[in-house]
Amino acid sequence: MVSAEASIERVLWTEAEVAARVGEVAAELAADLRALPEPAVVVGVATGAFLFLADLVRRVDAPLAVDFVRVESYGGGTESSGKPRITADLKVDVAGKHVVVVEDIVDTGNTLSCLIAHLEKKGASSISVCTFLDKPARRKVNIQLVGDGKFYSGFECPDYFVVGYGLDYAELYRNLPYVGVLKPEKYKKDSSN
Ligand code: IMP
Ligand code: MG
Repeated sequence: MVSAEASIERVLWTEAEVAARVGEVAAELAADLRALPEPAVVVGVATGAFLFLADLVRRVDAPLAVDFVRVESYGGGTESSGKPRITADLKVDVAGKHVVVVEDIVDTGNTLSCLIAHLEKKGASSISVCTFLDKPARRKVNIQLVGDGKFYSGFECPDYFVVGYGLDYAELYRNLPYVGVLKPEKYKKDSSN
């Protein structure tokens, strides 16, 4: 086996750059959550948000609950199917709560708008979104936040398929501590090598 790094064409954000930016986003989020009358519920979208969420909440000094949902729309390729499904639901009751959805990346916006509709149906009083990466160039669906919800974003991502810091291709590369562009030959042929 070769290293995971051998599949990366170039690094977009190093581990140090990621940590610095996550600290800034966390400070902004912490100030907003401390102003709320009650603890917020931070909802990570599995699996991609696991590292971002873990780093983020450790830097947010405010009372909060953490939960995960799983939303799937990718058939293992690099293009979203456009029809996301919630395949694992929340444990925490979000009725009347301030919810912060933590995502790895907002691409077309399909996943997020499906999830926001789902959380709104459960009675969340506000829905904010905190995404590590935002690819606005590929947006197809406008993201409608709920109540006093805010949109927090780590980095604006150019229109490349990126991996690392939670983001995968066919479930691989999530463990890279930085974000990089995957070599195109890695997704043009069998992903098993
Ligand atoms: P959307 O529904 O098109 O906004 O896609 C959002 C989901 O697609 C994210 O949660 C990611 O799991 C995945 N995704 C979109 N772009 C990329 C990428 O460049 N690399 C890895 N995953 C991506
Ligand atoms: Mg994914």
